Amino acid sequence: MANKERKTISRTEFKKVLRIFSFIGPYKWAFVAGMVFLVLGSVVFMVFPGAAGEMANVASGKGKFGLSLKDFGWIFLGILLLQGLLSYFRTLLFAYVSEKGMAGIRKAVFEKLITKPIAYFDEHKTGELTSYMTTDVEKLQSTFSITLAEFIRQLVILIVGIVVIAWIAPSLSLIMLTTFPVIVILAMVFGRYIKGFSRRRQDQLARSNSIAEEAIHNVSVVKSFVNEWYETVRYAGSVEEVVRISLRFARVKGLFFVFIVTVLFGGIFFILWMGATKVQSGEMEVGDLFSFVMYTALMGGAIAGLGNFYTQLAESVGAAGRVLDILESPTEVTPQEVTFEPGDIIEGKITLNDVRFTYPMRKDHEVLKGLSMHLDPGEKVAIVGPSGAGKSTLAQLILRFYSPTSGTIEIDGHKIEELDILKYRKQVAIVPQEILLFGGSIRENIQYGKPGASDEEIVEAARKANAMEFIDQFEEGLDTVVGDRGVRLSGGQRQRIAIARAILKDPRILILDEATSSLDAESEKLVQDALEVLMEGRTAIIIAHRLSTIRTADCIYVLKDGQIAEQGAHEELIQKQDGLYHALYRLQSSGIDVM
Ligand SMILES: Nc1ncnc2c1ncn2[C@@H]1O[C@H](COP(=O)(O)OP(=O)(O)OP(=O)(O)O)[C@@H](O)[C@H]1O
Ligand SMILES: [Mg+2]
Repeated sequence: MANKERKTISRTEFKKVLRIFSFIGPYKWAFVAGMVFLVLGSVVFMVFPGAAGEMANVASGKGKFGLSLKDFGWIFLGILLLQGLLSYFRTLLFAYVSEKGMAGIRKAVFEKLITKPIAYFDEHKTGELTSYMTTDVEKLQSTFSITLAEFIRQLVILIVGIVVIAWIAPSLSLIMLTTFPVIVILAMVFGRYIKGFSRRRQDQLARSNSIAEEAIHNVSVVKSFVNEWYETVRYAGSVEEVVRISLRFARVKGLFFVFIVTVLFGGIFFILWMGATKVQSGEMEVGDLFSFVMYTALMGGAIAGLGNFYTQLAESVGAAGRVLDILESPTEVTPQEVTFEPGDIIEGKITLNDVRFTYPMRKDHEVLKGLSMHLDPGEKVAIVGPSGAGKSTLAQLILRFYSPTSGTIEIDGHKIEELDILKYRKQVAIVPQEILLFGGSIRENIQYGKPGASDEEIVEAARKANAMEFIDQFEEGLDTVVGDRGVRLSGGQRQRIAIARAILKDPRILILDEATSSLDAESEKLVQDALEVLMEGRTAIIIAHRLSTIRTADCIYVLKDGQIAEQGAHEELIQKQDGLYHALYRLQSSGIDVM
């Protein structure tokens, strides 16, 4: 634990932090101005203890600059006003620079993430990816604004402080400078040890929170298994652990305060006492002692602050590294508006030659084992087969979410890898097995198929998808909010929204990955009719679970274990009494959903 915390920063790591700095490049003048205000503000601040001490000297009749007490009223008013103004502008400027700069990083990270290939998302959890934009960027922000500003301020305090006290009381300064920093550094080491506890407490708290979150998120699972008791006990145990760690943390923290009060204040008291002796012997004025002690306290704080700076820098080095790794890693595409030239429109001929595929995350399991098929433009094929046969995987390959491990996929006779990926995907639509809707209105969800589509187009698509009848039943119609915070839609309703989306997209190639859940006869008819409209004039691959969809296909491929076991028209396949299709068909006719 202790070793992990004592992070050292290597040169390359430090350079990474500097590279992140490039994001505030466009705002560098505001940054420089902020820095100037900061330094000026710190210097003005340092006048204060000296002026206060001199005021005490004047009060005791020993002023050095011939000032009267009345003058000090004006001096302090001036210092305070100036200090206030400088702080105000510094805060504004730093906020401007850090907010703009961090927004730049956030945007760049998001753009990178969203353009990464699907395989990247198999390897990383959603939470991990979003934390790049939240936790890591926030860490960087606090380093650049607060930490850096503090660093400069402490540095100014320290330098000005040393100069001033050396001038006021050289011999006392020497004693102070040899003892005080040691105490402060001891306090910091102690402080860092405490931080370890604080982190452990945080971690445990996060663990309890995730238990609660998961249970609430999956509340229907919890309830269906009657595991309310189990979850309650699990959460309570975790919270108790937080208490246990916190109490140990509190004990150490208590000791730390004892240390601060006795040793640190003891040190200040010692200097005060030394000073008092000097005042008594006439070597020093009371006011100067007063200033001296104030400067000492400020400098102590500054030394501690400088020490913390290093720890904070080490933390943000980690964050900077993660953010930069994202920013500098390759992506699949560059986000841009896709515009079509006449030659970009595909006809929709698809040829698969001996396609083999293994998911990058699961190298030991070959999912597709030599798949060959051919679809002419406008042809409709159905793919059927047992669960896990590789049907959805095939859909992902045609969308070019992954590339085949060997073999080729050709579109209109061109290798799929050679096509412009954005233009190609613009012409392929999928109605996936698991339909994901965005939180927002039904209108927005349909419009996703063609951003900027007019209301007429949306209604037209919804009507063709047979979605209008259920949408009209909602009081707010197309503006009904769906998703996490809105109404829940049934499987068939979601499907029809997805179909409407696909209709709007007007693709050349259509992939339908039917959900396994069976719809009732009426919804099935509605969805089926919508599909027929959608398929018209397009090349269509239908991963089918319903007899109605299969029957209308030009050709049926039966996929088993990543290979094509049978292929042909429905009438042909049904003839083979011992065939897989025949068996699947018989089972489904008897009401069991197996395809
Ligand atoms: N992203 C992935 N990473 C690793 N393996 C995967 C991934 N997606 C699917 N698989 C595996 O690939 C195999 C084929 O899955 P696929 O989803 O293509 O089956 P399917 O034929 O669509 O089944 P179903 O009818 O149940 O939808 C399965 O063994 C599955 O575990
Ligand atoms: Mg599937």
